[in-house]
Amino acid sequence: MSESFYQPKGDQPDDPGFDLSLRPPDFSEFHGQEKIKDRLMLMVEAAQMRDDVLEHVLLSGPPGLGKTTLANIIAGAAGTNLHTTSGPQIEKAGDLAGVLTNLQKGDILFIDEIHRLHPAIEEYLYPAMEDYRLDIIIDSGPSARSIQLNLPKFTLVGATTRAGMLTSPLRSRFGLVNRLDYYTAEQLSVIIDRSAGLLKVEITADGSLEIARRSRGTPRIANNLLRWVRDFAQVRSDGTITGEVANEALAMIEIDQDGLDEMDARILEAMIYKFNGGPVGLSTLAVAIGEDASTLEEVHEPFLIMQGFMKRTPRGRVAMPAAYSKIGAPQPVRSDQPDLFS
Ligand SMILES: Nc1ncnc2c1ncn2[C@@H]1O[C@H](COP(=O)(O)OP(=O)(O)OP(=O)(O)O)[C@@H](O)[C@H]1O
Ligand SMILES: [Mg+2]
Repeated sequence: MSESFYQPKGDQPDDPGFDLSLRPPDFSEFHGQEKIKDRLMLMVEAAQMRDDVLEHVLLSGPPGLGKTTLANIIAGAAGTNLHTTSGPQIEKAGDLAGVLTNLQKGDILFIDEIHRLHPAIEEYLYPAMEDYRLDIIIDSGPSARSIQLNLPKFTLVGATTRAGMLTSPLRSRFGLVNRLDYYTAEQLSVIIDRSAGLLKVEITADGSLEIARRSRGTPRIANNLLRWVRDFAQVRSDGTITGEVANEALAMIEIDQDGLDEMDARILEAMIYKFNGGPVGLSTLAVAIGEDASTLEEVHEPFLIMQGFMKRTPRGRVAMPAAYSKIGAPQPVRSDQPDLFS
């Protein structure tokens, strides 16, 4: 049920919802990811000094960490137009040609989920990124011929939750590759305070930290949990979010002290009870818990690995000692596979 806390809320351009209203408009309000911010600010400044277009930029990392937000901020800082599309939206070479020929010099083309671009489309993108040129084949059979279109100098900003799925030719064409990391609870607490201010809700330092600790290092989840806790505080308390109020509110939706939800618990329990702690393959595990394999891999797994509850090995996923403690199962005796826990 807490599934919805991962989902972009009002994240689409045509759905200006809650999430959008809390989205930091510029670098100064974007908290955390300091190294990436520094690089991007420097890149924008350098391009402006040379009166040149920005380098192509790749932003990767788990959902909800700020990739789309940064793409918007970059465009704002550079003072250029942002055109947004996504890998699955570009089905044919003609779709890509349409998008590219619509650009003006210096514009930013933001391709979300760029790992889902069709390989054939990717090949069209290479010369476009490198030489601002598009080679299209018209007709087929003996009359097939290639025509070249010159494109304006533009900047491609790609976002992906699966950097590993990008082909190396595509990856190597980005001037700057940035991997966003999970935020610390302290950083999230600053983000929560800012959001609470925008929502005009009173929050104590304890309240903010309580939500931050249980937000899986993810600003989108922090904002979504904040909204829930705000509702709770309004109905069950005097409207102020204290540590105690946050705790009760989050217990009500079964988000535990470490931010693990019902699905995370189900994953750990399946690994331990159904597969004897693993190793178990991703798709087998996904079927066992009734979750989509890519959601398991992109949303749940990175966090569980980062927190030390599970590990990826060449033979499959393995439950770590912390997982046994978390769900209250006895630690296994594994004298046969000592390397798994090393
Ligand atoms: N550093 C930050 N400071 C403040 N708010 C942030 C920050 N990063 C993200 N947010 C908030 O979290 C929300 C989610 O961020 P965003 O949509 O940019 O994530 P994303 O990485 O593009 O996720 P997805 O992979 O699902 O597309 C934003 O709308 C914004 O309100
Ligand atoms: Mg996004």
